[in-house]
This record gives sequence, structure tokens and C-alpha cells, in this order.
Amino acid sequence: MQILQDKKIVLGISGGIAAYKTPELVRRLKEHGADIRVVMTDGAKAFITPLTLQAVSGNHVSDSLLDSQAELAMGHIELAKWADLIIIAPATADIIARITSGMANDLLSTLCLATSAPIAIAPAMNQQMWHAKATQANISTLKHWGLHIWGPGAGEQACGDIGLGRMLDVNELVTLSSDFFADKYLKGQHWVITAGPTREAIDPVRYISNHSSGKMGYAIAHAALRSGAQVTLISGPVNIPAPTGCELVQVTSAEQMHEQALNYAPQATTFVACAAVADYRVADIADEKIKKDNKHMQISLIKNHDIVADVAKLADKPFVVGFAAETQNVEHYARGKLMRKNLDLIAANDVAKAGQGFNSDDNALTIYSAIDKIEIPLANKHIVAKQLVSLINQHYQAKNTEK
Ligand code: C5P
Repeated sequence: MQILQDKKIVLGISGGIAAYKTPELVRRLKEHGADIRVVMTDGAKAFITPLTLQAVSGNHVSDSLLDSQAELAMGHIELAKWADLIIIAPATADIIARITSGMANDLLSTLCLATSAPIAIAPAMNQQMWHAKATQANISTLKHWGLHIWGPGAGEQACGDIGLGRMLDVNELVTLSSDFFADKYLKGQHWVITAGPTREAIDPVRYISNHSSGKMGYAIAHAALRSGAQVTLISGPVNIPAPTGCELVQVTSAEQMHEQALNYAPQATTFVACAAVADYRVADIADEKIKKDNKHMQISLIKNHDIVADVAKLADKPFVVGFAAETQNVEHYARGKLMRKNLDLIAANDVAKAGQGFNSDDNALTIYSAIDKIEIPLANKHIVAKQLVSLINQHYQAKNTEK
């Protein structure tokens, strides 16, 4: 079943340039099964026509509180009751201010007062307007009331400014909408996840690293978040954005990752070590760039701390899950690490197989506990992550009931 199947979403569009993205948003939400009713402010109609939104949503677009014809079709109170979720995208500083002050001077603000449905706001405005004290005060009031604030994103703005205030991408809004309806079975849990590679400096310009893209760890963070967990993502340098809503702790070296992991793990319910941590670091990092004067050169390396093993040694240790990227004897090595590092579970992948593991969008995992072996077949890392998160939770619950 599609995640938004039969979900009734009112999309409120206010008057910002990002309104031009809303037909695509409607199309994408519908593709995921949602039924969409669009409500537009007068300002929105200066950027995009109701006819366009009617064509993509397949429903009448409401734009006036005083339109008797529209009220006959579905009155504003009915619309307020119909919605499972109201998304306001783009939400201008003006509509945010009107909602915060409880005004009901057009259809969209009235709907927000008249509904008991959850409301999500996707702000879109000039960065100065976003940072203005009035807007910030309004946003913190709305957060305090339990409204969901989706964004804004940062980047170049229509006015030429650069900064916070862009409406989130359509993709992100669709993901947040799906996440909103997802089963929050991890509510109350705090997951700390390490991801990506580490970089071990040789000199100010060179380092030792590996091919980890961070995709698997980020997918696990996303899957845990959408299932309701609080997530801290301790990440080495990667080129992908962190999932919205997680606490991102950026590190470079294994030593920094070790320090942050031991800082966060004691508060965690679950620790997932997905990072490809460099096993060794350079003994003496050169202060200046090393010159290529010698025919041979040697770099002396020292072993790094084993982060996951140290977390598993904590007196009040969380549920600890490790990864094993192997090219041969996968089961043998994975089980060895499970025992030696005192892990609760280990997820093994065969990185020698083409099309999975490092840098790929797909992966296949075999998960070992002391007694079990479970296969997650080759699929997109997001699909694999969803199954892995659910499996980790089952083992976590089973361990807690044993206690
Ligand atoms: O021993 P190996 O590096 O193969 O173990 C892999 C697992 O151990 C992964 O979960 C990885 O994140 C973790 N690890 C770690 N700290 C290290 C080395 C590996 O947490 N220094």
C-alpha cells in the first residue's frame, strides 16, 4: 500500500514565488496516494492560477471565504474537518503572522483556526524576513503549539540574497509528508548512528580515507527518524544532506568520531556503527606539506580506538549494532567481530559483490545475533535500512523484556 493512500491533505498556498513549485508538489503527493484539496490566498493567485492547481489536483480549488458556490461544494468548516493534514507551502511571513495571531480574514487563516487536523508550515521568504524578530517569535509560538515547521532551506533566493528562507524542495516536502503518516514505533528511543568515512591527516593537504559514501548510515538515520526515534548522526565527511530532523555531529578523524560517540552513546537506547572508520592514523602529522624530495618515504601509523567496541564496554551500554564490510568468509569474520566487540547484532555485507555496498545505492545485508541469522535481500539502501531498523527494534525489545 502507498504510504499516503487515502490520506486527505489540504495544501494551502500563500503568495510567494515558490508557489510555482506547488503543481509539482500536488502531483507528487497524489502519486503517493494522497487526495489533495488546494486552498489559495489572493497573494498566491498572483504567482499561479487556480486552474493549474485544479487540473493537477483533480479537485475544485478554494480561494474565497465568501464564495457561496464554493461553500455549497465543500464549506470551509467541512474542509477543516475533512483534512488529515494541512500543509501550507509556501508559507509567507504574512500567513505565518496571521495564523499566530489567530486571524480569520481569509479562507486559509480561517481553516487553520477551524481545524483540529495537524498543520505543517513550509516557510518561504527573504532571509532577512525569516530572521526578523517578529517571524522568529511567531515560529517559536507555532512550534510551541505543536505545529510542524518544515524548513526553510538555505541557498540562493529569488531576490538574489543568499541564506535561510527557501521553501524546501518538493522531494523533501513529499518525504516529510510520508514521514508524518509513518508508524512511529520507535517513539521514546534515541538512536546514535555513525556514518561515512573518516579522514586521517598526513599533512595539511593530504589524508588517508576510504570509499564510504555515508549512504547506508544516512538511510538508517532517515528510517529511524521516520519511525519516531530521536536521532544523532555522527558523520565523517560525505556529500549527501543529512535527513531533516536529525542532530548532525560532523567529524573528520576517527579520534573525533570516537570522542563524539562516547559523548552521545551513554544517553542512547541504540548505537549503530555504520561508519567506515580508518583502522590507523598517522603517528606524526606533518605541520607543513611534505615535499616529494625522497624516492621512498614511510609513514608510521598507530591503531585507532575501536569506537563500537568502546561503546559496547560502557557500564550502561545501549543496544549495540556493528557492521562488517567483508570481501571473503563473510559469516566467519562477522561472527568473530560480534563476539570480540561484544555487539548485540552485526550487519554484514559482501563488498566484493558488484552493485552493492560501498558507494552504491543498493545493498544486501546478513544480520547475525549470537543465535540468529537473517537475510535482507539486495535493494535500494533506503528499503534495506527500513527493514534493518525494524529488525534492530525487534531484537532491542526482546532484550529489554528478558531483563
Ligand atoms: O573491525 P572492523 O573495522 O571490520 O569492524 C567494523 C565495525 O566496527 C563497524 O561497525 C565499524 O563502524 C566499527 N569500527 C569502529 N571503530 C573502528 C573500526 C571499526 O567503530 N576503529
